Amino acid sequence: MRHAGHLLAEVHNALRDFIKPGISTLDIDRYGERLIRERGGVPNFLHYNGYPASICVSVNDEVVHGIPSKRRILKEGDIVSLDAGLIWKGYHSDAARTWGVGRVSAEAQKLMDVTKESFFRGIACASAHHHLHEISAAIGDYAESFGYGVVEDLVGHGIGTHLHEDPQVPNFRQKGRGLLLCKGMTLAVEPMINAGTKNVEWMDDDWTVKTADGSLSAHYENTILITEGEPEMLTLLPEDLR
Ligand code: CO
Repeated sequence: MRHAGHLLAEVHNALRDFIKPGISTLDIDRYGERLIRERGGVPNFLHYNGYPASICVSVNDEVVHGIPSKRRILKEGDIVSLDAGLIWKGYHSDAARTWGVGRVSAEAQKLMDVTKESFFRGIACASAHHHLHEISAAIGDYAESFGYGVVEDLVGHGIGTHLHEDPQVPNFRQKGRGLLLCKGMTLAVEPMINAGTKNVEWMDDDWTVKTADGSLSAHYENTILITEGEPEMLTLLPEDLR
């Protein structure tokens, strides 16, 4: 899991440096797939429930699961969410980042910053002897304090020898405490935060999820390892940690 995560962290950093106005979302998928395979990984999204690409590329009001296309060209001021995952020796990693394309508006930057910070608020209590839904509440409460819409129709998940395992990891306050976290659990924690309403809609391609009101959306995800202390960030490099 550590190595699968490390490779994916490298892939995301290379993709970050690749983003610029004028490239297509398919260019990102092609490059991302190459980065994964060059490292000995296998893209786990490709053909997953029929998904046709290796990287989910979701622009502006697209929340997640955008399908890369050579006709979709990034332009200055867009924000683009990249969700990627890979398998290494049977173990999965999964991570997402949202980047600005060139210069973006202050509103877009704030949404991206708050979404990333909501992840770190959430995992601040992700250690053994805490309960799963503490993560959910911390993420949701933080994002909602900015008036943002916290997506409820999609959630994080356990991850290991499969991409999606139990438990579900919601990004908003739950009724019960949720299961007891234990050392050795691996989770994909992934807030999806909208500038406007939390409501989302599925497009006719059966994959792309968009905000119902057309507002911007950001996504930030890492695969983490629960320990007795701070969680290990499997899909971040030491230099990525502030
Ligand atoms: Co995920």
